[in-house]
Amino acid sequence: MKLVIIGAGGRLGGALMREYRDKFEILGFDHEQLDLADTKEIDDWLTPLEFDVLINTAALTNVDLCEKEREQAFRINAEAPGLLAQICRDKNAKLIHFSTDYVFDGEKREPYAEDDSPNPISVYAESKREGEKLVLQTDERHLVVRVSWVFGPHRPSFVDGIIKRAREMECVEAVADKFSTPTYTRDVAQMLPQFFGRVGAPRRPGTSQRDVPTIDFDLASGILHFASAGECSWQEYAQFALDCCRSLGIPLKAKTVGAIKLADMKNWVARRPVYSVLCTEKFFSLTGTTPRNWRDAVAEYVRSCYAKNE
Ligand SMILES: NC(=O)c1ccc[n+]([C@@H]2O[C@H](COP(=O)([O-])OP(=O)(O)OC[C@H]3O[C@@H](n4cnc5c(N)ncnc54)[C@H](OP(=O)(O)O)[C@@H]3O)[C@@H](O)[C@H]2O)c1
Repeated sequence: MKLVIIGAGGRLGGALMREYRDKFEILGFDHEQLDLADTKEIDDWLTPLEFDVLINTAALTNVDLCEKEREQAFRINAEAPGLLAQICRDKNAKLIHFSTDYVFDGEKREPYAEDDSPNPISVYAESKREGEKLVLQTDERHLVVRVSWVFGPHRPSFVDGIIKRAREMECVEAVADKFSTPTYTRDVAQMLPQFFGRVGAPRRPGTSQRDVPTIDFDLASGILHFASAGECSWQEYAQFALDCCRSLGIPLKAKTVGAIKLADMKNWVARRPVYSVLCTEKFFSLTGTTPRNWRDAVAEYVRSCYAKNE
């Protein structure tokens, strides 16, 4: 199995590189090596390569910046995935493209399933939704994996910011009226290979000597939600992370996380959905497994990344 990972320098891409380096033949591209804003560069690098699965974790992920850089957001988050989908289709490879819980507007207030209608409320979300559509319109057998509130060791995220602030300041606060589910990059990396399909399975009827696509290939296409089990606000997430630190003896100046409202975040430019929990029933029906609870994932992360540094 030959893999290509785009976004290898990012939070999720870095975790995939680490998880797969001893298991698969992989080639990773970070931003410097391959710029998704440059279609010629994409074509020049990827068209000559041989691979079975291409995983795209790269994106313009700064939600506020996307509001100001609409064209760039669409180029990287929509047009580039569309081109990746074509290149993969033409070489009978599978594209696994990552997307976001932010494609939903948050009005449902119950976990969103794959067939719920997206309604993006920011440029970032619009561009990511367009990327999903272009990928699946190009080849419906590609896979779009939506994830939420991603954390992991390869790039600091919300949880790292809150721990840092709590070590430096007596008072920390987090938004208490916005809900989703923290998801560990390691968990994503560990579950994903079951959706790679099998090497040698024909990508299109009639293109191979072998006649029927394997069942795992058929199942693993379209849109898939993956997130930890449970849901929380950013304040609950932050408080739990600090509680983990305290139970591990990591010294903190702040012990509790104060509640603020989403409406208090005056410096945020983009609108964010107040509720974007992803339902993972499809994942369960495909794999027979349930993602672990977000508290277990966060506790493991804090233990592995912070306890050892004390
Ligand atoms: N983080 C979250 O909470 C979250 C939630 C839901 C969905 N997602 C989705 O999950 C995926 C992975 O996110 P992540 O958390 O790993 O984000 P990340 O750490 O920001 O990684 C994104 C990577 O894309 C790279 N990139 C940006 N512009 C590029 C370009 N023009 N060409 C090539 N590479 C470029 C970035 O490189 P530079 O930094 O060097 O520019 C970065 O390494 C994304 O599709 C994101 O939309 C993330």
